[in-house]
Amino acid sequence: MFEVITVHWGALYLLAAGVALTIETQRQCPPSCLCNPLLLEVNCSDVQLSRVPDTLPQDAKLLSLTKNKIKILVHQQFQALTHLQDLDLSDNILAVIEVEAFLGLHSLLSLHLAHNHLKIIPVGAFTGLPKLQMLDISSNEILVLLDFTFRDLAALQSLKAVENDLVFISRQAFSGLTSLQQLHLDGSNLTAVPTEALTPLSDLRSLYFHRTGLTMLPNYSFRHLGRLKVLVISHCPWLETLSTNSLFGLNLTSLSIRHCNLSAVPYIPLYHLVYLVYLDLSFNPITYIHRNLLGDLLRLQEFHVFGASLLQIEHGAFKGMSHLKVLNVSRNRLTTLEAEVFHSVDNLKTLGLDNNPLACDCRLLWVVQRQLHLNFGGNLPICTTSVQLQGWSFLDFSGGELSGLLTCRQPRVRNHKHQALTVEQGNTVVFYCKAEGDPQPSVTWLNPQLRPLSSMGRIRTLSNGSLEVRYAQPQDSGTYLCMASNAAGNDSLRVSLRVREFPSSSKNNFHLKSWFASPSVSPDETDTQKLPFDVKTLLIAATIGFLSFFCSVSLCFILMFFWSKSKGQIKHTATIAYVPRSTMSSSNSGTGNYMETSRFTMKLL
Ligand SMILES: *[C@@H]1O[C@H](CO)[C@@H](O)[C@H](O)[C@H]1NC(C)=O
Ligand SMILES: *[C@@H]1O[C@H](CO)[C@@H](O)[C@H](O)[C@H]1NC(C)=O
Ligand SMILES: *[C@@H]1O[C@H](CO)[C@@H](O)[C@H](O)[C@H]1NC(C)=O
Ligand SMILES: *[C@@H]1O[C@H](CO)[C@@H](O)[C@H](O)[C@H]1NC(C)=O
Ligand SMILES: *[C@@H]1O[C@H](CO)[C@@H](O)[C@H](O)[C@H]1NC(C)=O
Ligand SMILES: *[C@@H]1O[C@H](CO)[C@@H](O)[C@H](O)[C@H]1NC(C)=O
Ligand SMILES: *[C@@H]1O[C@H](CO)[C@@H](O)[C@H](O)[C@H]1NC(C)=O
Ligand SMILES: *[C@@H]1O[C@H](CO)[C@@H](O)[C@H](O)[C@H]1NC(C)=O
Repeated sequence: MFEVITVHWGALYLLAAGVALTIETQRQCPPSCLCNPLLLEVNCSDVQLSRVPDTLPQDAKLLSLTKNKIKILVHQQFQALTHLQDLDLSDNILAVIEVEAFLGLHSLLSLHLAHNHLKIIPVGAFTGLPKLQMLDISSNEILVLLDFTFRDLAALQSLKAVENDLVFISRQAFSGLTSLQQLHLDGSNLTAVPTEALTPLSDLRSLYFHRTGLTMLPNYSFRHLGRLKVLVISHCPWLETLSTNSLFGLNLTSLSIRHCNLSAVPYIPLYHLVYLVYLDLSFNPITYIHRNLLGDLLRLQEFHVFGASLLQIEHGAFKGMSHLKVLNVSRNRLTTLEAEVFHSVDNLKTLGLDNNPLACDCRLLWVVQRQLHLNFGGNLPICTTSVQLQGWSFLDFSGGELSGLLTCRQPRVRNHKHQALTVEQGNTVVFYCKAEGDPQPSVTWLNPQLRPLSSMGRIRTLSNGSLEVRYAQPQDSGTYLCMASNAAGNDSLRVSLRVREFPSSSKNNFHLKSWFASPSVSPDETDTQKLPFDVKTLLIAATIGFLSFFCSVSLCFILMFFWSKSKGQIKHTATIAYVPRSTMSSSNSGTGNYMETSRFTMKLL
């Protein structure tokens, strides 16, 4: 009985204490605010406050002061609220935050200061917030972030500083933010990445740069952010290229560079990002994805190039990317997307291909065959070239109908007549190779050594499929092959070219040959048979001049020397026999003796 009474008393006491607490809380609840004593929330949102109320429930965990007319936060404004975890001051007209304004908020986890009129945050404003994890200073008018502004926020994980007029971030502004994982610097007027300022953020995982004035991404822009996983750069209309080493030091898993002015995929800057899983280059004026240049992105699963200017994705463009699951190339200028582009189409799960001027032919059959395994994001690809399929998605047709609609025609080279030309050296020759087929075949020319010829150089392919040989040389002679190929097959055409040497040039060549080659082959016969002593030859010999003559003689002498050395015993006689002859002929200054000397040498050999 006694025990029961004690228990009752205890319960009564607790009840009384509870009521007292509630009354206390309510008593401290500022007029026009809503206080929830159970959740310990104080809601003073949108009640025309011009300053922070003097009395606030000391046990409050959440305090909302949004949408008021508060202009200033004074020194130790919230000192008594040691349990407060969430403080919302957004949508006021805050212009001044005094030093140590938040002192005493030991438990505060998140602080919202967005949509105010802050122009500057004094160093020390955020003192005394040891547990703060989230700080939002977005949509203010902050121009500069000063050194040590966030010095005491060792627990801060997320900092949002978007939509400010930031033009400069001081080198030590982020110093002390050792736990920061997310940084949003969107909508600032920064024209360069604040590389130095980012240095202390050794734990940063994601960095967002939207709507910045970035004009270029210099080398080593992010060199100290080795733990960064996500980098998002967007709306940078002046960013045209990334420097070779701009992403050096990063080990990203996700990279987005959207709405910028990149005209090519930054293959080289991306090269080392072998852990990249997500790559988004949407809304850049990129026209081609070239073959074999993305192969190092072995782990890439998603590639987005939405709304760009893509004209072609080359065969083998995604070679090596065996994990690619999502490709989004909607809203481009692609006429086709061939299966040969991928490492394997079997892994592809999502394909955005709508809003491209697709040509309906056999190159897209693979899409039809795999349509049950592919997610088109609700927008089916539509052909624009085929009359029957105009405006329809080819996926709406049955398999039987399609095999007749998505067709290709093998290339055929028109005028299959064998072209054979013989021209004089120095002339220019053009061979034609016109091919037809559906899709329009590509024409490549192979030289007699079966190597493909490019559109540059003396022997080049022209854009209309012809082959041009300028200043034909004897060594250009041979059979050239024109190869026309498309998705349906190939056809080829052989042409042959013979280039006749100039008579004079043939003799010129012969001289050189005779000088070099004669020691090794039976010299006597060739010389006597093939050395014609006409006026032309003499003239040419004269133009060689004294110096070259002497050089030639010396060269011959050296050859002689080695030869004789290899023979061993004749060495002596050979050397002696030669010297007086050479001096004699040069002192005579007769070009006729030139040949005589040579003849003499040959005989000696
Ligand atoms: C505070 O009250 C307003 C209405 O007066 C409401 O819209 C808002 O959601 C409340 N805020 C919180 C944090 O409860
Ligand atoms: C920042 O950029 C915006 C828009 O580009 C411009 O209106 C504003 O004047 C710039 N501010 C500064 C301080 O340069
Ligand atoms: C970036 O580094 C590469 C290689 O070191 C160099 O070739 C290039 O000129 C550098 N670019 C700039 C803008 O400094
Ligand atoms: C984007 O780059 C092109 C050249 O690549 C240039 O003509 C154009 O002016 C650039 N756009 C902007 C907004 O700078
Ligand atoms: C790069 O990141 C991956 C995971 O994202 C990690 O496994 C790897 O160890 C990191 N490499 C370096 C050099 O930090
Ligand atoms: C491609 O990207 C655009 C823009 O991000 C998106 O709206 C669309 O749904 C995506 N398509 C697919 C198939 O994921
Ligand atoms: C191809 O172009 C070259 C020069 O541009 C021209 O000489 C040749 O006649 C053209 N060939 C055909 C088949 O049109
Ligand atoms: C041309 O087609 C034949 C079969 O028709 C094929 O064996 C050959 O590899 C093709 N050549 C090229 C270069 O595509």
